[in-house]
Amino acid sequence: MLGEKKILYSGMQATGNLTLGNYLGAMKNWVSLNEEYECFYGVMDLHSLTVRQTPAEFRKRARSLYTLYVAAGLDPEKNCIYFQSHVPAHAELAWLLNCFTYMGELNRMTQFKDKSAKHADNINAGLFTYPVLMAADILLYQADVVPVGVDQMQHLEITRDIAERFNHIYGDVFTIPEAYVGKVGAKVMSLQEPTKKMSKSDENTNASIYLLDDADTIIRKFKRAVTDSGNEILYAQDKPGICNLMDIYTATTGKSKEEIEKEFDGKGYGEFKLAVGEAVVSVLKPIQDRMKELEQEKSYIDSMIKANDEKAQYFANKTLRKVQKKLGLTERIR
Ligand code: TRP
Repeated sequence: MLGEKKILYSGMQATGNLTLGNYLGAMKNWVSLNEEYECFYGVMDLHSLTVRQTPAEFRKRARSLYTLYVAAGLDPEKNCIYFQSHVPAHAELAWLLNCFTYMGELNRMTQFKDKSAKHADNINAGLFTYPVLMAADILLYQADVVPVGVDQMQHLEITRDIAERFNHIYGDVFTIPEAYVGKVGAKVMSLQEPTKKMSKSDENTNASIYLLDDADTIIRKFKRAVTDSGNEILYAQDKPGICNLMDIYTATTGKSKEEIEKEFDGKGYGEFKLAVGEAVVSVLKPIQDRMKELEQEKSYIDSMIKANDEKAQYFANKTLRKVQKKLGLTERIR
């Protein structure tokens, strides 16, 4: 708790280009949460280093993610949006928590198994302890709730386990975080394999809509989207392609499934795909325009980065000092 408000913590990695799935499933729903929660959102650049990055590109992408948060509607004066690497307490607490995390627990993480299979030539220790850094992120801010997708649930579980273990030995140091169960965002599937989640790391670029794709590209990708046999626009289990497009249409227009079925009654897939593409363009275009404006407002973004870095450091250091003291690390002489 911070004053009257509960604390909410989340973040995204600055790896790859964010997709429509990241926006409709997460970011979009974060915009109004600051009314109810004290919100912290990190650009998780330390986590990104678990896979090799090209420095110049990486630096640009991390800044771009920061700007995108703002362009998508997260007010940096009402939400603490900051770079993980600017708050040294993350790495420090991660070290301390490493000493309270078991190899066996980390070995069970499905994301570690998946990622090591994918990056067989670079299975580094950071990839293995990735969940411990994530635990540090969340626990430093004494977060009450964490909005995460199902793929991150196991990491939230281990965060809770580590926090409970620590609290059991040293008393109530950490708030035990819970998954945020508010309005859930849309789950957006791949446009090419609609039984698979849309992913920013998909090798087939036609499978994902990137937030910065231009209108023509978006329309073209929707026209090429894989649909199912038949030609009716119906929300039916044996039509994963059409269901996905309908979900996207609902998330971008607010129309219900019944309304969509009625709207496209007697019309073909082609017409429907075009309408979905246009609805997505009309949602992404204002964000892209704002993004371009913000890229010109360098000093504004810089001042937000500075202020929020300081705010994040203040809260993070408070927890870190408490942990250091509990552990018996020698006090600092001032
Ligand atoms: N691992 C998360 C992801 O890839 C990103 C992340 C890092 C995160 N630290 C976090 C999310 C803390 C929520 C809370 O999506």
